[in-house]
Amino acid sequence: MAKVHQFEVIVVGAGGAGLMAGLYASRGAKTAIISKLYPTRSHTGAAQGGISAALGNYEEDKPEWHTYDTVKGSDYLGDQDAIEFMTSEAIDAVLELEHMGLPFDRTPEGKISQRPFGGHTNNETGKPVRRAAHAADRTGHMILQTLYQQCLKNEVNFFDEFQVLDFIMVNGKAAGVVAVELATGELHTFHAKAIIFATGGHGRIFEVTSNAYAYTGDGAAILLRHGVPLQDMEFFQFHPTGIYKLGILITEGVRGEGGILINGKGERFMPKYAPTVKDLASRDVVSRAIYTEIKAGNGVDGKNYVYLDVRPESVNKFAALDGRTNPDGSPYNITGEQVLAKLPDIIDFCRVYLGVDPITQMMPIQPTAHYTMGGIPTNKYGEVVVDDKGTTVPGLYAAGECACVSVHGANRLGTNSLLDLVVFGKHAGLRAAEYAKQAEFEKMPEDAESASMSNFEALHNGSGRENAFDISNELKQVMFEDVGIYRNEKDMAAALEKVRELQKRFKDVKVTDTGKVFNTELLNAWELGNLLEVAEVVAVSALNRKESRGGHSREDYPERDDKEWLKHTLVTKQNGELKIHYKPVVITKYQPKARVY
Ligand code: FUM
Repeated sequence: MAKVHQFEVIVVGAGGAGLMAGLYASRGAKTAIISKLYPTRSHTGAAQGGISAALGNYEEDKPEWHTYDTVKGSDYLGDQDAIEFMTSEAIDAVLELEHMGLPFDRTPEGKISQRPFGGHTNNETGKPVRRAAHAADRTGHMILQTLYQQCLKNEVNFFDEFQVLDFIMVNGKAAGVVAVELATGELHTFHAKAIIFATGGHGRIFEVTSNAYAYTGDGAAILLRHGVPLQDMEFFQFHPTGIYKLGILITEGVRGEGGILINGKGERFMPKYAPTVKDLASRDVVSRAIYTEIKAGNGVDGKNYVYLDVRPESVNKFAALDGRTNPDGSPYNITGEQVLAKLPDIIDFCRVYLGVDPITQMMPIQPTAHYTMGGIPTNKYGEVVVDDKGTTVPGLYAAGECACVSVHGANRLGTNSLLDLVVFGKHAGLRAAEYAKQAEFEKMPEDAESASMSNFEALHNGSGRENAFDISNELKQVMFEDVGIYRNEKDMAAALEKVRELQKRFKDVKVTDTGKVFNTELLNAWELGNLLEVAEVVAVSALNRKESRGGHSREDYPERDDKEWLKHTLVTKQNGELKIHYKPVVITKYQPKARVY
């Protein structure tokens, strides 16, 4: 028998979106957050460079410019009503974090410091604008710490290191979740009126990724199994600068501070691809440029990497050539001490993991799988939307990377993810508490946990011959190579076949650890099941979209095709088969046009 708990609102996931949702829900309803990690170890902590808001603390900026940049960055697939909503809340969101105690870096006058980031521009000059509010290169980490403290202060209940295995729906409404307590292996049933999924992304389907081990698409896979569609899953962002082979993020803030990309011939190559903003073009553009250089034989020593150079003498030389100035108009000039103060974590990562000192040496980098633009479809209040008519599931919400509002469309601008999770986490929490106050608890079925229990036990006790780590490695490799930055029909079809073969082999997985206490082998195997389901949706969606847009770049269909493809993909699972549907993109002010950077 499972232990039973009851709360008005349950949040699954304790990253930035989950904590913000829990905090706001707890102001109106009895709330608990369930997380497979200790909250401050959540993946939001890996977001380095900043959170976007048109504060204009160094130079002129406006929320309208932020809106337009986000629409353009999304390659016109983002829903413009949701984007306007997010950018109009951005300034208040950042100031709220500041008032909660987040230790942002400061301007000389004591305002919140801001740095340039890819795709964020002064819409009149087309030049980069300083819009990313930052706490050194640990902005996500600071958001986690700040929100966790606020949640504790507000007496949010935490169930740390509990893995949610299933979602319970009664009479078409959200009614609870089933979770396993990792410390004991015991099952728990959580009865609730409203449930918010904030379970993060699924970058672990790829071999080289900046994503935490925990990013296994759990929430998306659980809801897919319950008939909820997944939206725009073909759009996965490759961040241009991951540490070569390791994938660990080197923040775009490096280029914001003046760092430049250099190929194996020692040439700065971004001006060829983005003449105005150069190294600060949007991520899809920069990642493709790096790959094009590598494919042309311009990788370093013929290998799959190029250099990121933040050595002060290089930064200052190229800043002078670009005419970059300080906010007061004086020539831009940075010292080694200043680089260290602004980017301490990435300097540390390079010293520790590579033995490379970025103050005196260039960093070897390659694009790394970073962020899913797609996910569980929601409206701007976090309500999960299951079709093209705006139909919602009473009591079911999603926020953060697992959700697709859609504000990022086909390509997200850097620093908009932290903004997304703060703004939409807050609204999901508010809406869920409001709903819970007028809703009754649904009566839970007697056997609420029995399906999860038998599936989990079957996985634990399986007598097969397959090794989960082998399947996992084969999955990551085929997805990275064939459904990665550049895609084509032949390779993706082969990848899909491989994913389906791996799904079959997964049924024969053997977990060798028979224990119950912190059985991470069992947990990893269960997560692999989710990765396999989500990877299939990514491959099916990518094969289906016969155009190139944002992060989805097809060699066989190199052009964007607004006539045929200016629409969102929805994929549902019916009787084990994936079905594709569509819904229109919301366009308010900005008609699609060619993107030039
Ligand atoms: O480059 C970075 O610091 C990453 C930020 C983001 O993904 O928004």
